[in-house]
Amino acid sequence: MVFEKGKSCRFVYFCGNDNRNKMKTIFEHRSIRKFSNRKVEESVIERLAEAAGRASTVGNMQLYSFVLTSDEQMLKKLSPLHFGQVERMNAPLVATVCCDVHRFSRWCEASGATPSYENPLWFVNSAIDASLAAQNMILEAEHLGLGICILGTTLYTAEQISELLELPKGVIPLTTIVIGYPDENPPLVERLPSTSFIHRERYEDYSDEKVREIWSEKESMDYVKRLVEENGTRNLAEVFTLKRYNAEDNATYSAKYLAALEKQGFFKSSKSDK
Ligand SMILES: Cc1cc2nc3c(=O)[nH]c(=O)nc-3n(C[C@H](O)[C@H](O)[C@H](O)COP(=O)(O)O)c2cc1C
Repeated sequence: MVFEKGKSCRFVYFCGNDNRNKMKTIFEHRSIRKFSNRKVEESVIERLAEAAGRASTVGNMQLYSFVLTSDEQMLKKLSPLHFGQVERMNAPLVATVCCDVHRFSRWCEASGATPSYENPLWFVNSAIDASLAAQNMILEAEHLGLGICILGTTLYTAEQISELLELPKGVIPLTTIVIGYPDENPPLVERLPSTSFIHRERYEDYSDEKVREIWSEKESMDYVKRLVEENGTRNLAEVFTLKRYNAEDNATYSAKYLAALEKQGFFKSSKSDK
């Protein structure tokens, strides 16, 4: 859906009152799930890496690594760990975004300093670093005319991905960005009104009525109605709670990710664990 200046638009939250130009790359983002056979050029890869590295980072420590996969054999091995999505999308380049306290710790040790970053606090810090760097990479990719899709399946198979990519302790996959030249042009996907997630001065809690109103526009859309029907649920909320992200899967995959975190050495929470 394209919103032209001066024309009324149904999603008023996209319009705002400020006449200054919006950053096109942000406002035209849509996930791409079908890529052409064109390879991503090395010069582009270098630019994406540079963009990732310019994000804010805790203490300027840059607690992330991106493992790039473009080799056909490696893509074939990676794809099942994303439930076939890599091959289905014809992805030429896959960036596994990792939290990484290993490199910084290695530097500390090599300098005779004693690091203490393999714990939950620094997992979260490195997850913030990695997410910000990933979003920078995404924005630069889209700015250059490439498309991207994030793969949340990374969290479900983090242990196997760690083995395949030979990640050392202190490094764990956080998410994955599939990158390539688009072979489709999907429409913009709607969002909740910004008033639903922006609170002024204090958090304003949601009454049942208010929270239903927030989702009402989405629920009235034809594709959402079809989704509910296809899933045989009573409403959109149940598509999430019973089907897409249900309690059983949530418990299973939480346990798996916690186990992967432990294996990758992120639980040295007490001083005696060192
Ligand atoms: C953490 C995360 C995990 C995601 N996992 C997947 C995925 O496994 N497969 C997929 O096709 N899209 C995935 N997406 C993309 C979302 O489905 C998409 O961003 C959302 O539906 C909004 O659509 P848009 O990006 O086109 O605006 C993921 C996005 C995020 C942020």
